[in-house]
Amino acid sequence: MKIQKIGIIGAGNMGSGIAQKVAQEGIQVLMVDVKDQYVKKGLENIKQTLSEGVQRKIFTEEQAKEILSRIRGTTIKEEVKDADLVIEAIFEDMDVKKDLFKELDKIWKEEWQTIYGYEGDNSDGEDPLLKRVDSIVQQFEEICRKTIN
Ligand SMILES: NC(=O)c1ccc[n+]([C@@H]2O[C@H](COP(=O)([O-])OP(=O)(O)OC[C@H]3O[C@@H](n4cnc5c(N)ncnc54)[C@H](O)[C@@H]3O)[C@@H](O)[C@H]2O)c1
Repeated sequence: MKIQKIGIIGAGNMGSGIAQKVAQEGIQVLMVDVKDQYVKKGLENIKQTLSEGVQRKIFTEEQAKEILSRIRGTTIKEEVKDADLVIEAIFEDMDVKKDLFKELDKIWKEEWQTIYGYEGDNSDGEDPLLKRVDSIVQQFEEICRKTIN
């Protein structure tokens, strides 16, 4: 499947960094956070990094504008249902992550695969985070390979 649009949940350091990198590769990005102010902060981080990239001659101004134009921010999680791939980048808090996966359950598309870098215990089968997991990986490279293949 050709990935044309990626949803990123969490517009913090990791989420905004991934959003920028993905947009640089020519892919549309929807970046989601819980409040407008956090979405705005994530977009500001990206603008700042792009502007530094222009100063360091990594991008032209035109390229930076184009990259930014591929990124849209929202607080409406349901909008990620149009994405080909969704990346979770929210707080490192298992309860918060589990609640998010419960919310995502409502809009889950069967073709979405869950590749998760987590070695957890799903022995009771009740963990909302893990019940969706198709494969668990330990290495980032392995995540990339599995996502692309
Ligand atoms: N920052 C890093 O270098 C780094 C490296 C490796 C892994 N990670 C992992 O990436 C994840 C994010 O880290 P970070 O540094 O970006 O954190 P961060 O605190 O900068 O950002 C987290 C963002 O998630 C948002 N958020 C929280 N709950 C949400 C929800 N239910 N829906 C939507 N948005 C929500 C917060 O408002 C915040 O903007 C963590 O799991 C962290 O362990 C981070």
